[in-house]
Amino acid sequence: MLSIDFAGRTLVVTGGLTGIGRGIADLFLKAGANVVIGDIACPEGTERVHDRLVHIRTDVTKRADAKRLVAEAADAFGRIDFVVNNSGMSTMDYAVDMREEDWDRVMDVNAKGVYLVSQVAAKQLLRQGGGGRIINIASQAGKNGYRCMGNYCASKHAVLGFTKVMALELAKDQILVNAVCPGIVETDMKRRERVEGGLLRGMTPEEILAEDRSQVPLGRTAEPEDVANVVLFLASPLSSYMTGQATNVTGGMTMHETGRTENVRGTDRTRSAASRLFVSYRMY
Ligand SMILES: NC(=O)c1ccc[n+]([C@@H]2O[C@H](COP(=O)([O-])OP(=O)(O)OC[C@H]3O[C@@H](n4cnc5c(N)ncnc54)[C@H](O)[C@@H]3O)[C@@H](O)[C@H]2O)c1
Repeated sequence: MLSIDFAGRTLVVTGGLTGIGRGIADLFLKAGANVVIGDIACPEGTERVHDRLVHIRTDVTKRADAKRLVAEAADAFGRIDFVVNNSGMSTMDYAVDMREEDWDRVMDVNAKGVYLVSQVAAKQLLRQGGGGRIINIASQAGKNGYRCMGNYCASKHAVLGFTKVMALELAKDQILVNAVCPGIVETDMKRRERVEGGLLRGMTPEEILAEDRSQVPLGRTAEPEDVANVVLFLASPLSSYMTGQATNVTGGMTMHETGRTENVRGTDRTRSAASRLFVSYRMY
């Protein structure tokens, strides 16, 4: 029988106290892994919650915190195997009104945080030898534009760019670097966005929830476990020939590289123009 057994392997996950990160931490614990959660909401210092779970207060925007997270994780369990850059935040405003401090904070947490933790973790994985996995929780906002989320979209596009470069540079050492691009996931962040987005767009959070659901071909928004399952796959031997990928987990809302579903449905003219081009190119 096929099973995923991570006994003796160690996951470091940022932002793992709530939401998607919590879903990832719980699933890896179920698969037998040791789990180290680095979250700004952890109490100060390091807490051994039980024999396979450690909490370390970490602000991913600070290099010293990233270094302490990785060093203490390796100390606690002997080595690290998987690093999931999950911590993130959003603010909402139209691009023309967006405050500079909101741009800076979101870019710092979502993009610089991924750079800092990945860099420190990659050095640890290289020192250890034996490869490893880095998995970045990006977003479909790393591929598309969304109203009132200019800073967030920019930060997630940055994550996907950095994922590709890390994947290229670390491939020879069997450190596989991939991203996951979730769609609409029911977490505190999403519920807050419905309130703030609703105020900006003159809608209630319930109306935005209904709008969200109507956009997902599979007919429901995601739960953290939907994303965690794909992260587990990307950490497992089942994905050992994948690196530099940005996997959509969107219930069909974003498909492949072609944009949102509505765009996919509306591309017939574009596609036939593209095939005409292809045909005429072949004629020469
Ligand atoms: N919820 C969604 O619909 C959705 C969709 C696509 C992508 N994402 C991404 O998934 C990730 C998790 O989001 P979520 O919805 O679970 O959000 P969430 O707000 O529920 O959880 C985010 C976690 O990150 C932590 N965090 C925030 N700033 C931090 C910092 N500077 N250092 C360390 N930890 C920090 C928070 O304390 C929290 O525990 C984020 O990167 C988010 O952008 C979420």
